[in-house]
Amino acid sequence: MTRKPWWGENLRFLLVGSGGREHALAWALSASPLVDKLYCAPGNAGIAHVAERVPIDALELDRLVDFAKAEKIDFVVIGPEAPLVAGLWDRLEAAGIRALGPSAAGAVLEGSKGYVKDLCTAKDIPTAAYARFSDAGAARRFAASLGLPVVVKADGLAAGKGVVIAASEAERDRAIESMLYNAGQEILIEEYLEGEEASFFVLSDGENVLPLAGAQDHKRAFVGDNGPNTGGMGAYSPAPVLTQAVIGRTLEKIIKPTITAMAERATPYMGVLYAGLMIKNGEPKLIEYNCRFGDPECQVLIMRLKSDLAAALLATRDRQLNHLDLRWSDHAALTVVMAARGYPGEYTKGSEIRNLDAAAQVEGVQIFHAATEWRDGKLMATGGRVLDVTALGNTVVEAQARAYRAVDLIDWPDGFCRRDIGWRALQR
Ligand code: AMP
Ligand code: GLY
Repeated sequence: MTRKPWWGENLRFLLVGSGGREHALAWALSASPLVDKLYCAPGNAGIAHVAERVPIDALELDRLVDFAKAEKIDFVVIGPEAPLVAGLWDRLEAAGIRALGPSAAGAVLEGSKGYVKDLCTAKDIPTAAYARFSDAGAARRFAASLGLPVVVKADGLAAGKGVVIAASEAERDRAIESMLYNAGQEILIEEYLEGEEASFFVLSDGENVLPLAGAQDHKRAFVGDNGPNTGGMGAYSPAPVLTQAVIGRTLEKIIKPTITAMAERATPYMGVLYAGLMIKNGEPKLIEYNCRFGDPECQVLIMRLKSDLAAALLATRDRQLNHLDLRWSDHAALTVVMAARGYPGEYTKGSEIRNLDAAAQVEGVQIFHAATEWRDGKLMATGGRVLDVTALGNTVVEAQARAYRAVDLIDWPDGFCRRDIGWRALQR
């Protein structure tokens, strides 16, 4: 039975966050016929073109709730994981304001790696062999039984920095000691999975699952997947490794059992679910979950989404996903992250960026801002990952050529990017 949705038109939306992911979401939401007013807290200089900025940080939960009440916000979209894990959804809903989840209880899928691994065991979800430890000796013995390389993880949110893939016994033992004693946390020891990594995204309303699309990120800082791990240096969608068969197995063996388990545990999962997968011989295994869109994966998904994003997110909150069908462009989207020189280590801040307007004129290109501010009429870089130069093309080759054509027009001597985004897809 179809319920009539509660929403009409002329909705007032609040988006929370300030990165390239949020710029892409704001861009799509501002184009929705349902959205009359869009605020973004705190946003950035690029987001200011499509939303009204509100000077409240994503973790100022009280102020966000007060703002949403005072401004009669109809719907809140929360971009990053930290406010979700901190319970912003729960706070908003308790105040009578609808929002895209998950709840804090649902966000445990990102907040606790140990919880997810135990859920995989309970539901027979394919993932790396593992065990949880709070004692270094026992951790070392189990790790030794898995051979090398072996994976050592701190539990809890670590923005991708809590994972060490140890190639030697010394590195392994050092990681175990430092994670246990410095962070004082529980750790996980995992089997090292070989294969090709990809991200797959769905919406879940607590019961139904609506597949979105897949993407591949580039986590290392430098060409050839070298250098330190970052938040992501570029992405493209679709990911050729995610064939229809692999997507089908991902949904049946990994995502649906997870959504069922969360409902059975009385903590239904509502919101975006991002599965980090390792695929070998067509068989996907779960590496980890995130409770939000990926950044920069969101940027390429949004470029390919032809349906109304606002309607999809409202239907998720309204438990109406079984009535929804999304349309996607079969073109390829690719995004190149431009970062401040030095990122992900110590980087220069406050350098000027010029000539973005010319770059944005390249056919098929959208430039999403990740960390920018206007100061005295100049556009300044204010963070590590600064711009996401994103393009749509008939093929990955065309999307890549367009993105780099735009990158080359941008005058930012203090920035850098990887020149090989999309290499896996191009190699095929
Ligand atoms: P995570 O924070 O769990 O996403 O881990 C960060 C990155 O480490 C992942 O994106 C993978 O590239 C890698 N990784 C994590 N766990 C494993 C594993 N069990 N086997 C191989 N690579 C892994
Ligand atoms: N791009 C990786 C992430 O959003 O976690």
